Amino acid sequence: MTPLRHRLPRESAELVRDALAGFRFQLQPREVGRVLGLERDVARVQGLPGVGAMEVLRFGKSAAAVAFDLDPDEVGAVLLDPESRVRAGMQVLRSGRVLDVPVGHPLLGRIVDPLGRPLDDGDALPGAERWPVEREAPAIVARAPVEVPLLTGIKVVDALIPVGRGQRELILGDRQTGKTTLAVDTILNQHDQEVICIYCAIGQRAQAVARVIARLRERDAMKYCVVVSATGDTPAGLQFIAPYAATTIGEWFMAQGRDVLVVYDDLTRHADAYRELSLLLRRPPGREAYPGDVFHIHSRLLERATRLKEGGSLTALPVAETQAQNLAAYIPTNLISITDGQIYLSPVKFQRGELPAVDVGRSVSRVGGRAQLPAYWEVTGALKLAYAQYEELETFARFGTRLDERTRAAIERGRRVRELLKQEEGDLLSPAEQVAVLLALNAGLLDSLPLEEVHPAERRIRAAVQEAEETARRVGAGPLTAELRQALLRLAQKAVAP
Ligand SMILES: Nc1ncnc2c1ncn2[C@@H]1O[C@H](COP(=O)(O)OP(=O)(O)O)[C@@H](O)[C@H]1O
Ligand SMILES: [Mg+2]
Repeated sequence: MTPLRHRLPRESAELVRDALAGFRFQLQPREVGRVLGLERDVARVQGLPGVGAMEVLRFGKSAAAVAFDLDPDEVGAVLLDPESRVRAGMQVLRSGRVLDVPVGHPLLGRIVDPLGRPLDDGDALPGAERWPVEREAPAIVARAPVEVPLLTGIKVVDALIPVGRGQRELILGDRQTGKTTLAVDTILNQHDQEVICIYCAIGQRAQAVARVIARLRERDAMKYCVVVSATGDTPAGLQFIAPYAATTIGEWFMAQGRDVLVVYDDLTRHADAYRELSLLLRRPPGREAYPGDVFHIHSRLLERATRLKEGGSLTALPVAETQAQNLAAYIPTNLISITDGQIYLSPVKFQRGELPAVDVGRSVSRVGGRAQLPAYWEVTGALKLAYAQYEELETFARFGTRLDERTRAAIERGRRVRELLKQEEGDLLSPAEQVAVLLALNAGLLDSLPLEEVHPAERRIRAAVQEAEETARRVGAGPLTAELRQALLRLAQKAVAP
C-alpha cells in the first residue's frame, strides 16, 4: 500500500506535518475519588491526591462539598448542600477552584446563602464576579488608623463607647439582651451615612432572621444592605463559611473605596458549627470541646476588618452570646482578645427596662475615641463622670442614708443620665441631636424636671435641633466652639421650658 503522504497533495502533507509537530502526546490526569464513608455533613474521600484546601468537590451532578482536611491518603470533605444524596462508593470529582462567592453591586438588596445562592425570590446572580471566600487580610502597610466615626445613632454608644470605621467591636451578652437589636439599629442608622451594610446570620432560627429582614425592609434599608444567611437548620459547613463569604462580599465594596459594616450574628453559633464539623472530622477536641484552632479561625476572620490607606473600610460588629453572664467562657474571652473592645449588654439592666441594656462599666472601645466627632469631646467627659459617680452613690441612696446636698444633687443628676440614656429600638439620633440633649443634661437643664418629663423634654430639644439646620450642620463639622455651645444651649433651654 502507498504511504499516505504520497497520496496527499504537497500542501496538505505539509499541513499535516506541521500539525503533528505541534502535537504533544499528553496524559491529562483527572483525579477521580470515591466516597469512603459519610457521617452527617462530612464525607471521607479517597483518591484525590492533588486536591487543595478549600477546593470545591462535586459528587454526581449537583451536590457540592469543600475539601477541609487533607490527609495523605484521605480527604475530609464538608458537604454544602442540605439535600445532597451522597452515599459511600460515589464518585467525587475535583473542580480545580477554591470556594468562592458572587460579589458586586447586584448583591445590594439581596438575601443570599453563603455560596451566593438567592434565598429571596430574586434572580440568580450568574453574571456577577466571583471572589474566594477565604482571602488574605490586608497587609499592615496598607492599613490606615481608625479615625472616622461609625455612628450608631444610639446615645450611650456614640457618646461613651464610640465605634470608628474599620474597627472591630464585639457585641456581647446573654440571650435576649438586645444584641441583634443594637446591631440592626446601627445598620438602620447608616441610611444617610454612605455605608454599605452586610448582615450575616449564622446558626439562628429562620424566624429570627426573617424578623431582621422584615425590619430592614420596613425601614427601606435593604437598598444599601446584603443579607447572608445560614440558619441553624442548614449544614454546619454552610454556617461555618457564612462569615467568610459575608466578609468577601464586603471586601469587594471596600476595594471600590466604600465604607462597609459587617454584622456577624453570631460567632458563638459559628464556633458551635465549627466544633460540630471538627468532631465529625475527628479532630482532637480541646477546651469546652472546641477544636484548638477556633481562636485562629476567628482571628483570621476579624483580621480582615480594617481601614485602607487608599480609601474604603470594613467595620466588624461580631455578636457573641454569653451563658449566665459568663464573660470568662472560652469563646467570649477569645473574641474579647481579638476585637478592639466590646459593648456588653446586661440582662439585669434589660429586666429593669433600661434599654439598650449597655453596661457602660464593662464596655470599652479601644480605638473609637480617636474617631469620635470633636463635638462630643466636651460632652462625654462630664457624662462619664456623672454616670460613674451615680453608680457609686446609688448604693448609699438605696439604704436611705441621710445625704448632704451635693450628694443628693449628684444622685438626681445620675438618675437623669440613666433615664436619658434609655432609647427605644429604632429611634435613632443624629450627632447634633445627641450633643444638644447631652449638653442640656450636663448643664443641669433637666435637673428640675421629674424623671418622666425627661424624655418629652428630649423630644422637644431634638425637634428644635432639627429645625436649626445650620447649627446642626456645624455640630457634625467640627469642635464645639463656645459660640456653638451657647447656640445649642439656648435651643435646649427654650425647648425644655417653653
Ligand atoms: N432599645 C430597645 N427598645 C425596645 N425594645 C428593645 C430594645 N432592645 C431590645 N429590645 C427588645 O428586646 C428583645 C430581645 O432583643 P434581641 O435584640 O432579639 O436580643 P438578642 O439578640 O440579645 O437575643 C426584642 O424583642 C427587642 O425588640
Ligand atoms: Mg439575637
